[in-house]
Amino acid sequence: MGQIVFGALAPHPPHLVYAENPPQNEPEAECGWETLRWGYERLRADLADIEYDSIVVLSPHWQTYVGTHFLGVPHFDSLSVDPVFPNLFRFRYELDVDVALSEQLCASAAEEGLVTKMMRNPDFRVDYGTIVSCHLTNPSWNKPVVSISSQRSTAFYNVDVMQEQMVALGRATRRAIENSDRRVVVLASESLSHRHFVTEADVPEDMSREHITNHHQYLWDMKLVDLLRQGKSRRVVEIMPEFTEHAVSETDSGALTWLIAALDYPEYAARMYGYGTVIGTGNAVMGWVPEDPAPKARARQPKAARP
Ligand SMILES: [Fe+2]
Repeated sequence: MGQIVFGALAPHPPHLVYAENPPQNEPEAECGWETLRWGYERLRADLADIEYDSIVVLSPHWQTYVGTHFLGVPHFDSLSVDPVFPNLFRFRYELDVDVALSEQLCASAAEEGLVTKMMRNPDFRVDYGTIVSCHLTNPSWNKPVVSISSQRSTAFYNVDVMQEQMVALGRATRRAIENSDRRVVVLASESLSHRHFVTEADVPEDMSREHITNHHQYLWDMKLVDLLRQGKSRRVVEIMPEFTEHAVSETDSGALTWLIAALDYPEYAARMYGYGTVIGTGNAVMGWVPEDPAPKARARQPKAARP
């Protein structure tokens, strides 16, 4: 029996990789966005105690308009350049794909009635959302990856259609993993509020310029974070359409809804690793460990007697 052993909300601003200065990335930074980078450090420290075989990630930057696509080529080796921030992200990547698991996910999604396709083009350029989230989660790149595209129902139909399909895809993902022999980490690669600045500082890592775009966006981010920390993930899915629209959120990709459904609507608290802004967008790094005891079970434990 396979299982999901860890899930995370793993945002992908390329600025975070830029600020880490890994050898794969060409531009060099002095520092920057530490609250988020230290958050990813805490995530990695937790993950270091968990055995797993593969990472499955859903990325908003692999956009497909006809159905959900799954990476189906065993190995990729190329250069990823962020189209908006080529000054920050020119990343030489090399990654292995768990094609067998990818095919199982694809078949399971088709059973749910979703339109699906395996991506078999060896010259395909893996999107930077997948690369950034996977790099920050596992910088050694020693685990195979399955990337799932974001089929853009929010844009093509509306956010409610997207939600419905992502709930089905999450259910399909969970079933396929349980029917496999894999221990899997699942990542939703996306920011929360996503209204951003339209000009950049001369020094991109000048943190005197970094803050949330506006208070309205911040309030929405805190609402979602609070609910997830209380284990109210089903409520998050319920308000996702409203959040997506009001916070101009990258949740329009469906990744967080997919993740929550794949984790079977956790009622235990998400682990909060860090929150911070990148060019004004709100980003939370949060994790779920399915073995975590439920909050109710914890509450029933007797209090220690006072001396
Ligand atoms: Fe993005």
